[in-house]
Amino acid sequence: MNKSLIDEITTGLQSDKPFISPKYFYDELGSRLFEAITLLDEYYPTRVEKSIMKMYEQQIASAVGACDVLLDLGAGNCAKASELFNSVNPKQYLALDISKDFLELAIAELKKKFPQIEMTAQVCDLSQPLSFPELAGKKKTFFYPGSSIGNFNPDQVSSFFRNIATICDGSGGLLIGVDLVKGKDVLQKAYDDSLGVTAAFNLNVLKHLNRIIGSDFDVVDWEHFAVFNQEDSRIEMHLRAKRDVSVTWPSHSKHFKAGEMIHTENSYKYTKASFSDLLIKAGFRDVQPWTDPKDLFMVCYAKA
Ligand code: AVJ
Repeated sequence: MNKSLIDEITTGLQSDKPFISPKYFYDELGSRLFEAITLLDEYYPTRVEKSIMKMYEQQIASAVGACDVLLDLGAGNCAKASELFNSVNPKQYLALDISKDFLELAIAELKKKFPQIEMTAQVCDLSQPLSFPELAGKKKTFFYPGSSIGNFNPDQVSSFFRNIATICDGSGGLLIGVDLVKGKDVLQKAYDDSLGVTAAFNLNVLKHLNRIIGSDFDVVDWEHFAVFNQEDSRIEMHLRAKRDVSVTWPSHSKHFKAGEMIHTENSYKYTKASFSDLLIKAGFRDVQPWTDPKDLFMVCYAKA
């Protein structure tokens, strides 16, 4: 296995406040469990975002205007972006994700339906700065749906936005979906559903780690814990040791006391105002917001 990956994970586990990066949720089972999460009654973001995109399709398209290239950040199966093809009508579509196999399959299918759009897949790690020299001079629309932005802390969001605004170079912009602050109860239920799918999703990260670093985590020793941290405006997911647990992996071991936790995810929630503020401070010029009637979720277009 990749040594730097193992070192990175080891550092997280050995830290005073043990953590695992949420990117390790998404092995094959994890990706399927996430898909199942999006179908749960309690998990509103996916469903509400979709309804906003549909309801305001024409307004969104006219805010975006002419589009040379649609850049899909974390494209996955390209389904969300393809919903925009008819209204936004990009000349070119660039699908970016960490895994290319999945992307190329999705794109091959889409090409049949939209032969007029030039489509490319590119591997891309969103925690690293982006750069698209080959697209200089073209009007770019970045698309970042799903409130994936919630995994970044506010400082990371600022540099990510500044990076995108710079690449846009005075034309185009960013179309982004973000989850909004709301009552603690609704938020916590969305991350601790009654069927236990989110619990399974969270626990599965330990099985994934066992394969990556050769550790011996036993999921029966751990329980899912999700809480809204009001002060930092984020849902936190943790795994809590049900009893004293010793975990070992090549050249390492770690003892967890009963009740000790491993932090696995932050999902930041914004207000309309706090999110627009971040966009404007990062160099975007104006922000057009669309929300559902209950203000659960926001889609907005920020002009570069
Ligand atoms: C994929 C990061 C948008 O934060 O809501 C869902 C991940 N974690 N349930 C989110 C997630 C637990 C999701 N994002």
